[in-house]
Amino acid sequence: MARRSLLVGFGGFLPDRVVTNDELAARLETSDEWIRTRTGISQRHIAGPNDTATSMGAEAARRALEYAGLTADDIDAVIVGTSTPDQAFPATAVRIQAELGMKQGFGFDLAAACSGFIFALSTAHAFIRSGQARNVLVIGSEVYSRIVDWSDRGTCVLFGDGAGAVVLSGTDEPGTEGLLSTHLHSDGSAGDLLYVDGAVGRRDMSGHLKMSGRDVFRHAVAKLSSSVDEALQAEGLEYKDVSWLVPHQANIRIIEGVGKKLNLPAERVVVTVDRHANTSAASIPLALDEAVRDGRIQKGDLVLMEALGGGLTWGSALARF
Ligand code: COA
Repeated sequence: MARRSLLVGFGGFLPDRVVTNDELAARLETSDEWIRTRTGISQRHIAGPNDTATSMGAEAARRALEYAGLTADDIDAVIVGTSTPDQAFPATAVRIQAELGMKQGFGFDLAAACSGFIFALSTAHAFIRSGQARNVLVIGSEVYSRIVDWSDRGTCVLFGDGAGAVVLSGTDEPGTEGLLSTHLHSDGSAGDLLYVDGAVGRRDMSGHLKMSGRDVFRHAVAKLSSSVDEALQAEGLEYKDVSWLVPHQANIRIIEGVGKKLNLPAERVVVTVDRHANTSAASIPLALDEAVRDGRIQKGDLVLMEALGGGLTWGSALARF
């Protein structure tokens, strides 16, 4: 039997500062009603001056390690999905290694925008299966408040900051729980639908997030639906087998669309977008952390995760808890 990857630890971190829709409406031509009806978002957490992808990711990692009953000495690899690293290098993952006091193992960042956590989870699973790592910290950490254009009401209202982490742990013991499969996709020909105009390699550009909202919406519904089918078909499972949908939290209408396709009642879909907004690569691990800690996700449950982001990138992961 192939080595399995168990999800054994969960942690999240949200900056203290909460910005409501009304607060945004006081400085932008928008309204709480417009934002809530179009997106489901009521508020978002925004990083303070000392919150960075490294500091937030390290805190989420500490909480995930504590949940798992492990210490940083037990970790072989740190993989961080982020589009908002503190520096071009060292990687956020390596900075987090240092924050955790890790001298062993390796770390690197992975750029897949809002699909970053699914891509990182898949990568960690491959390291575990190949025997290159036993315990892996998989982190999504993002400060989109530093890349959105705060004068563009079409994008800035959608995003928030935060970090989430999962400890993935390999086992050779027979059993049915763990990550069953992951499915990754990207299509660079749609890269101009959602992108950041600039980075350290292009300082001549503004470095702000740009989006064709309607096109992204259309792609999200179609691609996430096919991604969900792909995951279930790969495991010979059906919609009715899914206990929980833990989707990337971009927009409640996209989330509900996929939930409906699965024929899942709303109370079986984990939603945080109302309070967190879109935290990109952090959104799925933050949602997992919440639903595991409050007892919604139970041992034996089949959990389907899916995400789509700039690239375009998209994918899904299926896990038995
Ligand atoms: N407040 C008030 N009005 C706003 C607004 C805001 N925050 N943002 C845009 N508008 C206006 C637009 O200017 C436009 O006005 P106009 O008709 O006078 O030009 C109108 O609302 C409709 O804009 P449009 O962009 O067509 O709205 P929409 O119904 O497509 O909703 C999104 C916009 C962004 C909510 C929607 O397209 C969406 O959710 N897309 C997916 C985005 C996403 O999830 N991205 C991340 C993926 S990881």
